[in-house]
Amino acid sequence: NKFATILAGGGGTRFWPLSRQEVPKQLLNISGNDIMLNDTIERFKGIIPQENTVIVTNRSQAVLLESIMHSSVLKHNILIEPAARNTAASILFAALSIEKSHGDSLMVVLPSDHYITDEEQFRLTLDEACTVAMETDKIVTIGIKPTFPSTGYGYIAYNQHPIASNPVAIYDVEEFVEKPSFQKAQGYLSSGNYLWNSGMFIWKTSVIIDNYKRYLPRLYKTMLPISEYLGTEQEEEVINRIYPTLQSISIDYGILERSDEVIVLSGQFGWNDIGSWDALGAIFPPDESGNIIKANHIGIDTRNSIIYGNGRLITTIGVDGFIIADTGDALLICPKEKAQSVKEIVDLLKEKG
Ligand code: GDD
Ligand code: MG
Repeated sequence: NKFATILAGGGGTRFWPLSRQEVPKQLLNISGNDIMLNDTIERFKGIIPQENTVIVTNRSQAVLLESIMHSSVLKHNILIEPAARNTAASILFAALSIEKSHGDSLMVVLPSDHYITDEEQFRLTLDEACTVAMETDKIVTIGIKPTFPSTGYGYIAYNQHPIASNPVAIYDVEEFVEKPSFQKAQGYLSSGNYLWNSGMFIWKTSVIIDNYKRYLPRLYKTMLPISEYLGTEQEEEVINRIYPTLQSISIDYGILERSDEVIVLSGQFGWNDIGSWDALGAIFPPDESGNIIKANHIGIDTRNSIIYGNGRLITTIGVDGFIIADTGDALLICPKEKAQSVKEIVDLLKEKG
């Protein structure tokens, strides 16, 4: 049994005002192809049966998600969280639910906010990751060669002697560091000994559940009644009562940094976490002035900027290195290097109600 678990309950706050609580970025069509969630499902075609897709999402997004998601997803495979408790909770929720209905199974965890090019290479890597996870009791990760000292990713130090090298290089992991400081990230980048964590994980449900028992025992114990009542009449009541009380921690801090059973496959495909406005350059090549313009725009002396509109005319004069995003009801103006701070605006807005 092979299952994909897609994490689709994030807020996507750094993409405000385009991404909103009810319509987060995974439900937006940013690439011009399809919504990011559906691109994610389309990508593993041929490796995992599409009807074996489990989606974990937030209640505030579920209705919209169901109306626009890939038609192959079965409704009973959508797990709805009454509160966002971060990825460790979401993944355990899915692992227990898969194990309950199908016994020990292979589980592929995929974020829903990635942009991937060279999909053939991606599929080759994912297929190999599934084989390795099936044959071992390892936590299998997919690493990406880092290109800049990002502080928004996890870093994986790998043992230079590969365990295997064909068709994909596989290494033992020596250290996993989630979202390091800028200084540390610079060191990791220049050492040449680290890969970025792509956020995709492959393991047997039995293996990851054992890791929860060892490293996140409190989360595991609190979650158990939910798994017990799944499929019963009390299910909803139990989930509503327990889920909001779960420990809120990401899988990266909770398990990946602590476990010594981690291995990494070196992914050779184009990969980008479309995390914030400045990442749009990975999808749309800038024009000769360095601008990415998705708007009705006229400018004089406008350079290196990202301008996103909803139809009304945007004009700029002497603008360099800015993000301008207009959704009609909200307008963001922000220097590109502050793109990560957009989430602080969302926090402020929440505070003010
Ligand atoms: N259902 C659900 N519930 N999904 C969630 C929740 C939640 O509470 N929180 C986050 N997600 C989803 C997001 O929608 C996204 O698809 C995925 O889980 C990862 O969450 P992010 O919030 O985007 O994580 P990140 O980008 O900061 O960091 C992770 O991904 C990086 C690569 O993109 C880490 O795994 C890093 O180590 C990694 O480098
Ligand atoms: Mg992300």
